[in-house]
Amino acid sequence: MSGKVLEVSDLRAGYGDVEILRSIHLHVSDGEIVAIFGSNGSGKSTFLKVVAGLLRPWGGSVRYMDEHIEELSPEERVRRGIALAAEGRKLFLGMSVEENLLLGSWIKRDKVRENLERVYEYFPQLREKRKTLAGDLSGGQQQMLSIGRALMSEPRLLMIDELSLGLAPAVVDRLAQIILSIREKEGISILVVEQEVSLALEISDRAYVFDLGTIVDEGSSEELLRRDSIRRTYLSLM
Ligand SMILES: Nc1ncnc2c1ncn2[C@@H]1O[C@H](COP(=O)(O)OP(=O)(O)OP(=O)(O)O)[C@@H](O)[C@H]1O
Ligand SMILES: [Mg+2]
Repeated sequence: MSGKVLEVSDLRAGYGDVEILRSIHLHVSDGEIVAIFGSNGSGKSTFLKVVAGLLRPWGGSVRYMDEHIEELSPEERVRRGIALAAEGRKLFLGMSVEENLLLGSWIKRDKVRENLERVYEYFPQLREKRKTLAGDLSGGQQQMLSIGRALMSEPRLLMIDELSLGLAPAVVDRLAQIILSIREKEGISILVVEQEVSLALEISDRAYVFDLGTIVDEGSSEELLRRDSIRRTYLSLM
């Protein structure tokens, strides 16, 4: 492999005849955590949908593990190791925590117990609440469940849309630590959309800034944290 788990070139996509993404070039290397941030409506979720196969690109290429995947169904992409913890969490609120997790394991039926155990190790609160309805969980626990469900398919590329949205700071800190330990233990790549720019840059190795469907800035997170334009615009510093 080229060392790149995901490599997107000149990607265009939209809804109906409205173009949203214009010429996106983005890659995620093996074992990397990459963050995407940028203003509301700039196309971050749309981008993740295209990678997950939920929206067909108009043009450009999407390569995963050195293979073109533009024509693959969402199911086939999950099978190959692409998992999305979607914005809004998309849980089955009337089902229990464990039932939601089991729904994430349809491609790994022979390893359900093992994967449940693995998810419960990352998220002990989910083990305690395994019989609780997803709808009765706190926001933080729902986010854990959404990420846990994505992990049940043993992804090689885990995508998370809006990690911290609506969550209390202490919960966000805990989630950030768990994300880092998932990368460490699983050795997987993580692509995270995160509005809270300081958090996005803290947990990632590199980041891309989206604006109006294009990438307007990118670099190592360390470098972006120091960059004056980023500090002024996104961190309200200086
Ligand atoms: N299903 C849809 N049909 C039509 N337009 C859509 C659809 N989903 C999103 N859009 C539009 O596409 C643009 C990009 O939306 P997208 O959700 O990708 O942005 P985002 O960067 O994730 O924003 P946010 O920070 O609010 O989550 C917006 O103008 C939005 O209104
Ligand atoms: Mg979004």
